[in-house]
Amino acid sequence: MSIPLSRVRNFCIIAHVDHGKTTLSDRLLQTTKTVSNRVLTEQHLDSMDLERERGITIKNHPVNMRFTPSAHGAFAGIKQEEYALNLIDTPGHVDFSYEVSRSLAACEGALLLVDAAQGIEAQTVANAHLAMKQGMTIIPVINKIDLPSANVELCKKQLEDILAIPAEDAILASGKSGIGIDEILAAIIQRVPPPKLADYPKMRALIFDSQFDSYQGVICYVRVFSGTLKRGDVIKMLSDGAQGEVLEVGGFYPHKIKVDCLETGMVGYIVTNFKTVADIKIGDTITHYRDGATDMLPGFQPIRSMVFSGVYPIDSDDYEKLKASMGKLRLNDAALNFTAESSVALGFGYRCGFLGLLHMEVIIERLRREYDLDILSTYPSVVYKVRYRDGHGERFETFENPLRMPQEGTYESILEPMIKATILIPNTVIGDVLSLIMEKRGTCTNTETLDANRVMLSADLPLNEILVDFNDRLKSITSGYGSMDYEMNDYRDGDMVRLDIMVNGEPVEPFATIVHRSKAEARGRTICEKLKEILPPQLFKIAIQAGIGSKVIARETISALRKDVLAKCYGGDISRKKKLLKKQQEGKKKMKQIGKVSIPQEVFVNILKTGN
Ligand code: GTP
Repeated sequence: MSIPLSRVRNFCIIAHVDHGKTTLSDRLLQTTKTVSNRVLTEQHLDSMDLERERGITIKNHPVNMRFTPSAHGAFAGIKQEEYALNLIDTPGHVDFSYEVSRSLAACEGALLLVDAAQGIEAQTVANAHLAMKQGMTIIPVINKIDLPSANVELCKKQLEDILAIPAEDAILASGKSGIGIDEILAAIIQRVPPPKLADYPKMRALIFDSQFDSYQGVICYVRVFSGTLKRGDVIKMLSDGAQGEVLEVGGFYPHKIKVDCLETGMVGYIVTNFKTVADIKIGDTITHYRDGATDMLPGFQPIRSMVFSGVYPIDSDDYEKLKASMGKLRLNDAALNFTAESSVALGFGYRCGFLGLLHMEVIIERLRREYDLDILSTYPSVVYKVRYRDGHGERFETFENPLRMPQEGTYESILEPMIKATILIPNTVIGDVLSLIMEKRGTCTNTETLDANRVMLSADLPLNEILVDFNDRLKSITSGYGSMDYEMNDYRDGDMVRLDIMVNGEPVEPFATIVHRSKAEARGRTICEKLKEILPPQLFKIAIQAGIGSKVIARETISALRKDVLAKCYGGDISRKKKLLKKQQEGKKKMKQIGKVSIPQEVFVNILKTGN
């Protein structure tokens, strides 16, 4: 049942969170009879609880739809032949922008959904730009037009003004009530070009996603650009030359179904004998081991962790469980990387690298919920570069763990990663948002009026400043109407220092952070004050200090808890009183002797949770 290339369409749907991507995809599956109505309501492209709550789609399967248009309505003029319409899902969120770009690279066209009541949002702009960069055909869809608050004219104007997409190209639709679905299908057939027959002589397929199945092992989702992939083929990954074997090839109808082979232009899966998804790199090119291609398909990048954090079990007995759980998560998520580390204060745990903040939150939440682990994560950190200069010229090294920051004076400068942010906000709060950007050491590079009520700001910001509360603050300033998206930019010199927190002269490692010098004092003071509030008093005075190197920049003191050990000892003979006092003295001595204050776990949880 092979379909000629001229009747194959590979497309994806890009949209801002909640603009109706899932509902519309479901509707397409239903209209093309890929799934029955009953199955649809039961499974609803089964997503994780977490995804639903956070309003994001982290991962979904591609779907191969077969569709024969009728001769009527929207389909008038289209031949009544069977088409293969392959819908490839994209994760949408900026943390996964590389994955998004690889999914886009597997398609020729994209449906760009805009919620008619919300208009264009930051993620719409970011994703549309990604699609344009790839030279894809974009079909704008103004969705949810059934809503009373829908403003189609405004959306059309925004498409033209912000994205330079002709408004007359837009299809008006409602995934919920089924309006415009035929028009969308017709547009996919008429406007999205079929895959080109590559003039490349060897087999090349792009891996745009991967999955680990406990029975089948590593499954790669691929788009074949030239040649044919079939069972038994010995393959090679072009990024590192790794060799493997194809154990099965198939498509998503919508469940995985074996096929004989995947030909040029097709989208499907291959089951391989690779052991873990870590052996597979998204964006890599597969070719035949013998007589294969030598040039990769464009756009490959190795995965780079942008945000790091330490993850520790609250109960140290849970370490083994944490280890097993991380291993399981990693099976399906090659972007998660971790190495074991230990800390005097927190015991054994892992230093983890994530693609971004959302990725970090998702992993930590999954450990908590799906693996039922009580865990603690340290302040997120980014990757800094250290510039050294000697007789031979410049040399760079990187570090992300604050404890690994080299001593001041041993290097020339520190460089920090920057982002380019796109921020869409109501124009009534522009002043407040500009102050927030300034407070976060950012600069606004451009302001563009979107309509009578909204503006789009472009800003350069240090990644480290948006790690903790930037998004929450933006949401609160804009009463939820602001949206932000970002892409990584270059590295820039930053006057970064390591802020240490000391309790009774002893540095508490998990509280160490890298901050900009201008922020160190305020941050140090906040942590000291907070610690003073929550650290249980002990029988001796406790000094809490924040310092950079040997210089103390903030200090608080918790006075000794003067436990009146004699309170219960009315009258009585003096020798008993003396005995009690001696005991108290010894207790104090013991504490001081250890030279350490016993800090309860809740204090770590509390301080690390508060962030800035
Ligand atoms: P994420 O994948 O989580 O980013 O969201 P999404 O873009 O897939 O949106 P989803 O389809 O989950 O829809 C978000 C909300 O909008 C849900 O409450 C839907 O019921 C609602 N919705 C989706 N499409 C329509 C529509 O055409 N009309 C109306 N009125 N509501 C819709």
